[in-house]
Amino acid sequence: MAQYLIFGNGWIGNKFTASLPDAALSRADITNKQAVHEAIEEHNPNIVINCAGKTGRPNVDWCEDHQRETYLANVVGPMTLRDACLEQKVHFVHVGSGCVYEGDNNGHGFAEDDLPNYFGSYYSKTKIWAEEALAQYPVLQLRLRMPVDKGPHDRNLITKLVKYQRVINVQNSLSIIDDFLYAGKCLMEKGCTGIYNITNPGAMGHARLLTIYQEIVDPTFTFTVMPLTELMTKVKTGRSNCVLSTKKLAHHVTLDPIETAMRKCLEHYKQVIDARK
Ligand SMILES: NC(=O)c1ccc[n+]([C@@H]2O[C@H](COP(=O)([O-])OP(=O)(O)OC[C@H]3O[C@@H](n4cnc5c(N)ncnc54)[C@H](OP(=O)(O)O)[C@@H]3O)[C@@H](O)[C@H]2O)c1
Repeated sequence: MAQYLIFGNGWIGNKFTASLPDAALSRADITNKQAVHEAIEEHNPNIVINCAGKTGRPNVDWCEDHQRETYLANVVGPMTLRDACLEQKVHFVHVGSGCVYEGDNNGHGFAEDDLPNYFGSYYSKTKIWAEEALAQYPVLQLRLRMPVDKGPHDRNLITKLVKYQRVINVQNSLSIIDDFLYAGKCLMEKGCTGIYNITNPGAMGHARLLTIYQEIVDPTFTFTVMPLTELMTKVKTGRSNCVLSTKKLAHHVTLDPIETAMRKCLEHYKQVIDARK
């Protein structure tokens, strides 16, 4: 028996499993009804967290060419888990995405009940479809956005930007992973349902992130800023750039503003890099 059962043997799934007491990770195919039921019966959890899905390798462009696989994993899978959890009376938590908006909503940031307005990539469409369908049920949905972590990883925004060297500079909401995991745990412990934007308060452009990187991690690092129009000539599909409101989350959890959280994260990132030298 485990308190939490996590589906999705990927980056976030493993982070959640490591961060929660009494958690088990399932590698079951979430589109396979029988496999999902068997996993839930075996572990008998109070809470199931879905971290499985197709995010695309090396990036989200993959989803444009693999729409069937993306739809199955990102839409059919979450519905299969939802049905199994309802049937077995287990609280269902789904890791969604904040990449369902474009812009900053006239400076207010997008709240959870604002309708998605970004349909520029197949990946984002599947996240919107799943979110809408799950919103009709007592499910907790955690919107993650441009995750940033304290150690190098090919999915970590810091690691990605440092490799690109030439970056766009649009204000975005970001999720420091440790804060995302902490906020998710708080909401789960309170038995919350509904959609929550789990990002650090405020917003940051990539240039600001890399300037702090120069200051804290590597003073010799250089980068240049490119216009959004140039990015569109390099990628197959669009990318969401958006700012989310964190007012709803603030009723339950206080997270550091992004500037403070990013500095702490980069200080840790430097320690990890130095320890590997
Ligand atoms: N990383 C981000 O930037 C980001 C941002 C916002 C939201 N999210 C969401 O967070 C969730 C986790 O993302 P992540 O970064 O951890 O991605 P990840 O590292 O790619 O992990 C996803 C895992 O799900 C697995 N998977 C795919 N289809 C599956 C299926 N039918 N049954 C069981 N497992 C399946 C993948 O296996 P394969 O590798 O074999 O496909 C992979 O191990 C996703 O829903 C993603 O949309 C991620």
